[in-house]
Amino acid sequence: MDAKSLLASFTCPLIPVVVIDRLDDAVPLAEALLGGGISALEVTLRTPMGYDAIAAMKSAFPNSKIGAGTVCSEGAFDRAAGSGADFIVSPGATDRLFKAAANRGLPFLPGAVTGSEVLMAMEYGYHTLKFFPAEAAGGVPALRALSGPFPEISFMPTGGITPDSVATYLQLTNVSAVGGSWLTPQHLLAEQRWEELRQLALDSVASVTQISEERLM
Ligand code: 3PG
Repeated sequence: MDAKSLLASFTCPLIPVVVIDRLDDAVPLAEALLGGGISALEVTLRTPMGYDAIAAMKSAFPNSKIGAGTVCSEGAFDRAAGSGADFIVSPGATDRLFKAAANRGLPFLPGAVTGSEVLMAMEYGYHTLKFFPAEAAGGVPALRALSGPFPEISFMPTGGITPDSVATYLQLTNVSAVGGSWLTPQHLLAEQRWEELRQLALDSVASVTQISEERLM
């Protein structure tokens, strides 16, 4: 399955970008987010337990879609795949990462914000890309401008997106999902407030449901 089909299969276009500091938090957090209507999580490899967190989530929820984020090397790509990640997200892209993606056959969202980066991804056959850091790289106006020369490219923006700005991103025709850490505030995670995290997911999903329905019309 490619990244386009993967994102299209999600009932909810919000992808929490998750940083796990304690491995024990992985399963209850996944339970809270999935229970709140979230279709897929991106577990970053910014902490050493990222790989084990992915494995634990997949073991507890085998049918869920758990991706690995901040994948910055071939080694990390292979290890994330070995941990059971369903998809791989990178803040950028290199020839080596594209090679790892071809070897593994996993859905891969390479990062791209400039015309040259988009063209590089297209040369490797990728048309669904991460747009990071979204706000710092120009946000909604930049994505709208990229739809001109690259009408066949769709983006998953992340980086600096807030509950207030998420709707404007989702209204863009070249945005297929939006990611970010606002769905997993660090203080709620640190205090293991799973019910509040589930409620935040429920509220966030509800707030974008109308946009999602309009997009399908
Ligand atoms: C990412 O890795 O995609 C971003 O760091 C998430 O950005 P945010 O924390 O600003 O949502």
